[in-house]
Amino acid sequence: MTSRIIVVDPFDYVVFGGTGDLARRKLLPALYHRELDGQLPEVARIIGVSRRESSHEAYRADVKAALEKYLRPDEILPRVLETFLSRIHYVAADATSEEGWANLAALLKEGEDRVRAFYLATGPDLFGPICEHIGRHGLITDKTRVVVEKPLGKDLKSARATNDSVGRIFKEEQIYRIDHYLGKETVQNLMALRFGNALFEPLWNSAHIDHVQITVAESIGVEGRGDYYDTSGAMRDMVQNHILQLLCLVAMEAPTSLDADAVRGEKLKVLKSLKPLTGAAAEACTVRGQYRAGASTTGAVPGYIDEITNKESRTETFVAIKAEVENWRWAGVPFYLRTGKRLAARQSEIVVRFKPVPHSIFDEGAGSLAANELVIRLQPDEGVKLQLMIKDPGPGGMRLTRVPLDMSFASAFNVRSPDAYERLLLDVIRGNATLFMRRDEVEQAWKWVDPIRQAWDESRDPPKAYTSGTWGPSAAIALIERDGRTWHEDAA
Ligand code: BG6
Repeated sequence: MTSRIIVVDPFDYVVFGGTGDLARRKLLPALYHRELDGQLPEVARIIGVSRRESSHEAYRADVKAALEKYLRPDEILPRVLETFLSRIHYVAADATSEEGWANLAALLKEGEDRVRAFYLATGPDLFGPICEHIGRHGLITDKTRVVVEKPLGKDLKSARATNDSVGRIFKEEQIYRIDHYLGKETVQNLMALRFGNALFEPLWNSAHIDHVQITVAESIGVEGRGDYYDTSGAMRDMVQNHILQLLCLVAMEAPTSLDADAVRGEKLKVLKSLKPLTGAAAEACTVRGQYRAGASTTGAVPGYIDEITNKESRTETFVAIKAEVENWRWAGVPFYLRTGKRLAARQSEIVVRFKPVPHSIFDEGAGSLAANELVIRLQPDEGVKLQLMIKDPGPGGMRLTRVPLDMSFASAFNVRSPDAYERLLLDVIRGNATLFMRRDEVEQAWKWVDPIRQAWDESRDPPKAYTSGTWGPSAAIALIERDGRTWHEDAA
């Protein structure tokens, strides 16, 4: 199976924070992969910008080192690497002063007709100053876009301030807010599965679905960014964005098309339908945890507190929530959400558990009837699995057994699954904002998250401890089990 490669329009990608971790680890390798597939046009430049004095040549060496670190050796082909590096340029400019901006303006002048994308891979405090310089130096053309990364605020108020600072210079349709989960193959597949098949949609409602589970479990800890993480926590880091976006894609109505505003309008309606969790309801429907020392797949690991400066921290590294979407389609169907660091495995999935059959015609000897289940695996092994009941093959009467119709995309299509950034970075060039968040979505998500966080802040209870390498605090298991349900385990 070959994928369709369409070369994009000529562009200049200007990456602020060009020497930073995100650029080195994700953005440059993603663009290199697109080069490898022949998707970059002859005329395209990638311009790294940061404060540090450097030269084009030194930055190219830096980019080469990053590619060698983050790509497999067999992915580095000398001819492709040479072409890619010839696109790389560097400008030293300071977001908080005039220094270097004239040089950037001069360089960009050489490519005035191209699509121009400014990627702000910096802290959000620099978004405003960078945008103002871009505006002041007249760097915005008809084909200019700006890309911003999370954290887009730490609550509604700061999110509005960040959005305002970018919005003062750029129009909403020029702003691309990245949530890299939306670029993951399986997440896009969720739309294909729901709206490209007649099979699921008639059943996709409270009459037929018992509940939905969304799990984004990580086995890693805070990996050297503990002090940043300590100001964020799992709710802001994962739930406000990635998990709520997944929930939206599961719960939204069919948009009229894949047009950016059609899709985002439907997602916004879901966010607005989320039952507010305030005060006692927040305490009853959420569990937060913090990991202690334990074991991960790589051996013994320290606890969260040992990895950060603030030894009194109450920051959560795990969250489980029972959420509800209050509308006609989903009334009474719980959405159990769960995410955490240092859990037993890296496993992200959406599980849609259907209701049991209304009446069994089989006698006791046939065994029990398990409910159908659709499992959409985001990672590690992307794919879709549908659990069905069939007759146990062979003679011996009617015995029933549960079997999976299981499709792993890697083995079925034999293609490398592209990193989310590969898709998203080029969508910016194509001017396709469907997989990016609109301002109102981001702010609506904060409106739901803020009262939960407030209830936690006001609570006397600290987050519940859990041992690294487990599935989180036992209260998270109780959260679902008291409703007579269990978290999905990856049983065949
Ligand atoms: C990021 C979070 O947005 O997503 C990280 O800030 C997290 O804490 C990461 O580790 C997970 O992304 P992925 O693609 O590895 O599942």
